[in-house]
Amino acid sequence: MERFEEYLKENLPKVDSFHPHYNSAISQMLLAGGKRFRPMLLLSVVEAYEPLLFESALAPALALEFLHTYSLIHDDLPAMDNAPLRRGFETIHITYDEATAILVGDALNSEAFYRISKAPLRDDIRVKLIELLARDGGTYGMVLGQAIDLYFENRELTIDEVKFLHKNKTAKLIATSLLMGATIVDMDRGRAGELYSFGLDLGLLFQIQDDILDVTHSDQEAGKPTNNDSDKNSFVKLLGLEGSIDEADSLADSLRDRLDGFDIRLRDRLEHILSGYLYRHHR
Ligand code: IPE
Ligand code: IPE
Ligand code: MG
Ligand code: MG
Ligand code: MG
Repeated sequence: MERFEEYLKENLPKVDSFHPHYNSAISQMLLAGGKRFRPMLLLSVVEAYEPLLFESALAPALALEFLHTYSLIHDDLPAMDNAPLRRGFETIHITYDEATAILVGDALNSEAFYRISKAPLRDDIRVKLIELLARDGGTYGMVLGQAIDLYFENRELTIDEVKFLHKNKTAKLIATSLLMGATIVDMDRGRAGELYSFGLDLGLLFQIQDDILDVTHSDQEAGKPTNNDSDKNSFVKLLGLEGSIDEADSLADSLRDRLDGFDIRLRDRLEHILSGYLYRHHR
């Protein structure tokens, strides 16, 4: 995905003003790196079915990374998870101040939708992409998940409630990344629905893996503070480390089976991106 990195660097927001660090604060966390998991999911679907649309799909892929990065910047704020480190670098509220971090998050959130509105894609497709990202990255998805995550700190949830929390906080944005790719290539509703439901389970696995990482990795390895979830309804808190690993393994088994039913072109690409998640013990 070198092309995506290049596109990101060429398309960072650059605004003319007399503010001393407006542009650099907005770019800081985007340039810090990250796995780019959500853009890769979207672009894999496009590459598999309509490679000629790859360039046009870069704008919505970047929009996903903008929205996701905004969610991380706000997640790290003192009022939320209070984290000084992200993607191996100090967080924006440490480099500058809280007001700057809040505003950078706000900027990346609206910028995501602005970029989709300007993408070289059919009007109906752009509107649908905006709808999906707004739905799953906002009120009915990520924001709801974050609200539950924070409200229920130090109050124990049931396992079904934790799954609901993870589904909203993390899984819907991951599932919608696949669905946005499916939308760009005009995939039929049935297959797009299958891909979305695969994405929801993948997202659940992704967040369980993130909860496991919190207890198995150092700050340096993770690039963010670990052992930071003790007040949270993390999977590990509820099921223990072994229980969480078992849950992750069984989700990975089911995802591998479902992947086998996908079109070979898509399967190859997803297997490549997802190998670390799907083949958990084969590395
Ligand atoms: C971290 O997301 C937050 C979760 C949803 C678990 P990522 O693990 O995708 O973070 P980056 O983008 O690679 O930094
Ligand atoms: C955050 O989950 C998910 C978001 C919506 C940002 P976490 O709080 O577990 O993410 P990390 O561990 O800080 O990356
Ligand atoms: Mg959090
Ligand atoms: Mg956090
Ligand atoms: Mg975490």
